[in-house]
Amino acid sequence: YVLGIDLGTSGVKVLAVRQDGKVVAEATREYPLLQPYPGYNEQNPEDWVQQTYLAIEEVIQKTGIDAAHIQGISYSGQMHGLVLLDDKGNVIRNAILWNDTRTSQECKNIEETLGEELYEIAKNPALEGFTLPKLLWVKNHEPDHYSRATTFLLPKDYLRYRMTCKLQMDFSDAAGTLLLDVVNKQWSLTICEALGISIDLCPELVESHHCVGNITEEVAKRCGLSSSTQVFAGGADNACGAIGAGVLSSGKTLCSIGTSGVMLSYEEHDERQYNGAVHYFNHGKQDAFYVMGVTLAAGYSLSWFKDTFAADATYESLLAQINKVPAGSNGLLFTPYIVGERTPHGDSTIRGSFIGMDASHTFNHFIRAVVEGVTFSLREALDILRESNHEINHIYSIGGGAKNDNWLQIQANIFDASIQKLENEHGPSLGAAILASYGVGWFPTLEDSVNMFVMYGETFYPQLDQVEQYERFYRSFKRIYSDTKAVNE
Ligand code: XUL
Repeated sequence: YVLGIDLGTSGVKVLAVRQDGKVVAEATREYPLLQPYPGYNEQNPEDWVQQTYLAIEEVIQKTGIDAAHIQGISYSGQMHGLVLLDDKGNVIRNAILWNDTRTSQECKNIEETLGEELYEIAKNPALEGFTLPKLLWVKNHEPDHYSRATTFLLPKDYLRYRMTCKLQMDFSDAAGTLLLDVVNKQWSLTICEALGISIDLCPELVESHHCVGNITEEVAKRCGLSSSTQVFAGGADNACGAIGAGVLSSGKTLCSIGTSGVMLSYEEHDERQYNGAVHYFNHGKQDAFYVMGVTLAAGYSLSWFKDTFAADATYESLLAQINKVPAGSNGLLFTPYIVGERTPHGDSTIRGSFIGMDASHTFNHFIRAVVEGVTFSLREALDILRESNHEINHIYSIGGGAKNDNWLQIQANIFDASIQKLENEHGPSLGAAILASYGVGWFPTLEDSVNMFVMYGETFYPQLDQVEQYERFYRSFKRIYSDTKAVNE
């Protein structure tokens, strides 16, 4: 067996798989998001660790697997979150997460200091969610914390550190820090020096399938694991989502709707220039890349809507209603900018809106408008990829957005592409398990491992009349950003 652990924003998922491709057990545990001030999003790393241990225990109990038969473990994790450690390996402050927007001033400073060089080296713009602005924020606002820091890690790297006592970061997650020379795969001294960050804070870099060591005796005892289990570095959740959907070759595209939403395409080489319009990161497959656009509040828009207006409903019951109203929700449009937006606006201050409300609108119109608004926002990322010579006619869809057939059909119509879901989809946790299965040597290549574990399911095709209707609504949607910008200033 191998285990794949996905350390997400709302919770952790642990998956146990067998060499013949069967998923034998899974367990999930949640932990809180701490929002002490508007725009602040933090988590206590200890919560990640304790909840992961409980989920591992549960998986082992459920299956009765003999610990000695768990050959490998690997990880996937929410990207960009800053975990600062002191010289004893203790956490200095709560982790500042990917969806935290306190760092606008630091982003401005990074852009001004580095200019074009930032794009040449890190391949990405300075956005509030990335790790470097967070490091600078701590340096500027909490100098005592900063001066005690000897290393920084990302969320899943911290979890792995606790399970192995080894400090490492893999390239796919390091790419999201803005400190990595993405093409040359090394920490950028130029960026560190320009911004006064000591390069010694950066941990050792490894490939996602690299074996970093074994589980410590103490953790093995605590979770019912064996200290002979090999531990593999793992990757960013979006890289692992792509691996778990078989997005490992040119021409393949993924739409993932979790808390955030991403539209992601595989890239073989450093071949196209995006100048920061979409994120450009290293893949979890060695020497490959991917580009993606991000909608900050995708599933989060729906969970906000549910918690605010229909707390007792389930997602299934809400989404089951959306076909009771027509495409375009009778003129009601929603922009999902409830925590700001990444692609294409890179704007942490914009806020969302419902526009076009009519006295005839019902609750169902609002749910459908939220679903359509999230999908329109991902279409904006898709447009950028298509304009950069990615021919995209077929998209694999994963995450919460792929759990409902109505929403999958809406994706096909808004994206004007066929949308395929996966059979028994497990998202990034399966990508992590695939990395472990390749790492332990069950398969000669990552692709062979994918062929064993990934099963494709039903395809949803675009419906011409709705594609045309949605094109009109989409044109209106795109105008809302600039038309509402002044309201939020
Ligand atoms: C990607 C991003 C999010 C997180 C969510 O840049 O910020 O997709 O990885 O887990």
